[in-house]
Amino acid sequence: MDDTIPLKSAKESKAEKLLELARRRGFFWQALEIYGGVSGFVSFGELGVKMKNRMIELWRDYFIHRHGFTEVDTPLISPYIVFEASGHVNSFKDPMAECSKCHKKFRADHLLIDLGHYVSEGMSLKDMGKEMNKGDVKCPECGNTKWSLGHFLTMFETAIGPYSESEGFMRPETAQGIFTEFKRLYEVSRGKMPLGIAQIGKAFRNEISPRQGVIRLREFSMMEIELFFDPSNSNCPLLREVEEEKLRILPEELVEKGVEEPLIMSVKEALNRRIIKQEWLAYFMALSKRFVAKLGIVEDKQRFHAKLPNERAHYSAQTYDHEVFLDKFGWVEVAGHAYRTDYDLQSHAKKSSMDFSASVELAEPIRIKRLKMNIDVKKIGAAFPEKASNIMERLKEMSPEDVKKSLDEQGEVLVEGLKLPKEFVGFDEVEEEVKVRRFVPHVVEPSFGIERLVYATLEHAYWKKEEDRVVLKLPLYLAPVQAAVFPLVLRDGLKERSLEVWENLRRKGIDAIYDDSGSIGRRYARADEIGVPFSITIDYQTLEDGTVTIRDRDTWDQKRMDIKELSDHILGALRSHNP
Ligand code: ATP
Ligand code: GLY
Repeated sequence: MDDTIPLKSAKESKAEKLLELARRRGFFWQALEIYGGVSGFVSFGELGVKMKNRMIELWRDYFIHRHGFTEVDTPLISPYIVFEASGHVNSFKDPMAECSKCHKKFRADHLLIDLGHYVSEGMSLKDMGKEMNKGDVKCPECGNTKWSLGHFLTMFETAIGPYSESEGFMRPETAQGIFTEFKRLYEVSRGKMPLGIAQIGKAFRNEISPRQGVIRLREFSMMEIELFFDPSNSNCPLLREVEEEKLRILPEELVEKGVEEPLIMSVKEALNRRIIKQEWLAYFMALSKRFVAKLGIVEDKQRFHAKLPNERAHYSAQTYDHEVFLDKFGWVEVAGHAYRTDYDLQSHAKKSSMDFSASVELAEPIRIKRLKMNIDVKKIGAAFPEKASNIMERLKEMSPEDVKKSLDEQGEVLVEGLKLPKEFVGFDEVEEEVKVRRFVPHVVEPSFGIERLVYATLEHAYWKKEEDRVVLKLPLYLAPVQAAVFPLVLRDGLKERSLEVWENLRRKGIDAIYDDSGSIGRRYARADEIGVPFSITIDYQTLEDGTVTIRDRDTWDQKRMDIKELSDHILGALRSHNP
């Protein structure tokens, strides 16, 4: 069982108070408390789930609906071959330091940084080893200063099937599910390009010694878009909507010099100066800034931090981390914006020998030479009588160039899990007129982490009105509970009247709670602490004239209102704050 239980720490920083509140009121807490807790796993309670869902809806509005993109849901587990093809098996590794005495393992770069050592961008494992073994890097567990260094594959491995016959991995990103299904998705879209495909769901990373609570989880949720476009027509038609948006950017040249203060420039300028290399990338970065601002995180607590070539993911030609400033953790990445080029589609095309190209109609037809496959139907039928038609169908979908390459280089080609030898397929070069141009789409990807965004939003909403009064000033559209109903006292029919009001609000689609315990002051405090925008009190005057007191969370102003106007007032306020 893990002994690092960061979500229970008693330190009195804003972060610690917030984590205590999140746990006590049931937003989220470290999972498996009854077994001592396990680092890297959290459970969300009712308030957390509601807030998370509202954030996801807001994201859908910003990133999916307004662009007419589609959303998919693909498996959490995929076989080894998927992540072998994607490059994750080789590259999804973190530097790990093992204490030579107590054998506790730590993420080497994080431990060095925590202990005040300089870690250069993309520092090699060898250099990290030298730094760790200088004699002043003490093991946080036992104080020893001798370390051995290695790489650790951070994907969770699993076995598919009862006899472990097939090795698999839990997905470390939702993106691969979109790449592996690209052919079908492209067909379903009837050849749409640019094509935006989103996925929202869990991802798994076996992080080494995660010590930052909800910031670094082993199981977390992502919201990702893979935007596929034609590389010879790569302009973003929506750019005009955001080109004047100012971004706070730390480009590669500043990151290299260790500069922390970002440049402030418009999207247009960043593109003109090639600080952002791709229009779609710039478009999503601007939208990302607006989205995060909508969560209540002001501009100067946001920045875009370029990743240097040696620290970028293996698939990326340019990456900007969208970071927000947090009280305890400093600048933390909440979203990654990457230009993945055609890396993933080409990798899966190669591995599966499938054609992952898209096409556009040409203004004028042209004549081209191409390879044509001559499949020996008889031989295939004789060798694989039961699977012959599947093999034929699949072969026809494959690119002749890839099939030929595989036969030339390996003497066989894998089709439907079977190895076909050279004699089964011949090739001719034919000339033909074509009306379309084929290309493998390039990809720009915005990728958001939900738990980090929830945490950042809560921290930025956390406000102390008075020494002992906490108000969560959440944007109205994110507040998990939208209204609270309180009877002044429980007698003389006030309770019944309050329950009626509560029910009516819920029937109108307002997320309302009823609370009759303790003084009205205590009830206001409880509502403020979880960010309820409107608190409604039913008193004796309600029985006389049908009015109630409605109190505003942020101003604490109270006014009387007719019960009949209540739901319209609340719904109107919620709507007027919507994006
Ligand atoms: P970091 O450098 O902080 O490890 P990363 O570069 O590995 O993050 P990405 O691979 O770009 O992150 O993942 C996209 C998003 O997913 C991140 O911006 C972050 O919001 C979220 N994310 C990544 N790893 C984790 C994690 N271990 N726990 C929670 N969220 C995560
Ligand atoms: N899909 C983005 C990432 O996992 O880094």
